Amino acid sequence: MRYRRLGRTGLDVSLVGLGTGGPSQLGQATGRAPSESYAVVHAALDLGINIFDTSPAYRESEMLLGQALQDVPRNRYILATKFSPGRIAPDAGPEAFTEQLDKSLEYLKTDHIEVLQYHGISPEAYRSIVDRFHKAALEAQQQGKIGHIGITETMGSDVYHEMLKVALEEDLFDTFMIHYGILNQLPEHDVFPMAQERNVGVFVMGPVRQSLRTPEEAVSRINHFIDEGWLDIPRPDASDPLGMGRVSEPTADVTRVAYRFAAAHPAVSTMLVGTGNPDHLRANVEDVLSGELTPEELAYLRETYGKLAWHL
Ligand SMILES: NC(=O)c1ccc[n+]([C@@H]2O[C@H](COP(=O)([O-])OP(=O)(O)OC[C@H]3O[C@@H](n4cnc5c(N)ncnc54)[C@H](OP(=O)(O)O)[C@@H]3O)[C@@H](O)[C@H]2O)c1
Repeated sequence: MRYRRLGRTGLDVSLVGLGTGGPSQLGQATGRAPSESYAVVHAALDLGINIFDTSPAYRESEMLLGQALQDVPRNRYILATKFSPGRIAPDAGPEAFTEQLDKSLEYLKTDHIEVLQYHGISPEAYRSIVDRFHKAALEAQQQGKIGHIGITETMGSDVYHEMLKVALEEDLFDTFMIHYGILNQLPEHDVFPMAQERNVGVFVMGPVRQSLRTPEEAVSRINHFIDEGWLDIPRPDASDPLGMGRVSEPTADVTRVAYRFAAAHPAVSTMLVGTGNPDHLRANVEDVLSGELTPEELAYLRETYGKLAWHL
């Protein structure tokens, strides 16, 4: 495994992290038994993954993670969970932050969380969330319940990353989580340079998501972009959906190209893979560690897909 510094937290995190949300929810959304979710967590540890991302909003993920990790020495892994405003009453006060955090600590069977992130904050909600809850977050940090405070953007609606631009300007957060990948490259232009300048840790989410899991899915997504007039390129083919053959070897393995692309950017501290399948996790880690995209391939992917800005 390769490790990178999570910005100014000073924590060294694995380049591949395990995400327990997304379309898989650690296997809960794909009908897997808890024993299989535990197997994913243990496969992650065996691969050298030391960072786990979860949330109270991901069904039973916090509880599953806590159970899977209960006999693992606490200094072997870093926990990133979230405060989810979507799970409290709209007019709830700061006590709701503390109550949710205490539940997370209980489910994760720990007395401290390294990174606590405000979850899925839209540009419209940002100011009210900070005003209502940041004092409680700082108190929890002083009490040692949380190490660092981060923030995550919404996955679909904030395509220009407006919330994070404001958050970075205000510089209240040690980390953030952003949607980035071949089909979502806009962070390279502004948010990544801002993060590097301020030494803020970057979690990447969703480089594969529901777009690049199979060649057929990739063909369908790219055809949609062409139909919408957002891409002016030849129609894709399932033997090489991304058109890699235009600059190197054709490949149907879009998942490999997608994870390699997201891991390549130096601003990225950890790229989360959201899976409930240990074999997928092993293959993805092997893909990232066994090779890199060439400068020509990266340039081609930037030239071809770099301007896309779309909603899920
Ligand atoms: N706003 C937020 O805070 C927010 C929003 C979204 C996500 N997140 C976090 O970011 C993490 C990563 O996001 P994500 O889960 O959307 O990311 P992702 O890793 O891009 O996509 C996960 C999807 O890819 C599939 N997959 C993984 N490896 C595969 C392989 N080798 N072959 C085929 N399919 C494969 C998974 O299914 P299988 O289970 O079948 O492998 C799952 O459906 C989440 O788990 C969550 O922790 C946070």
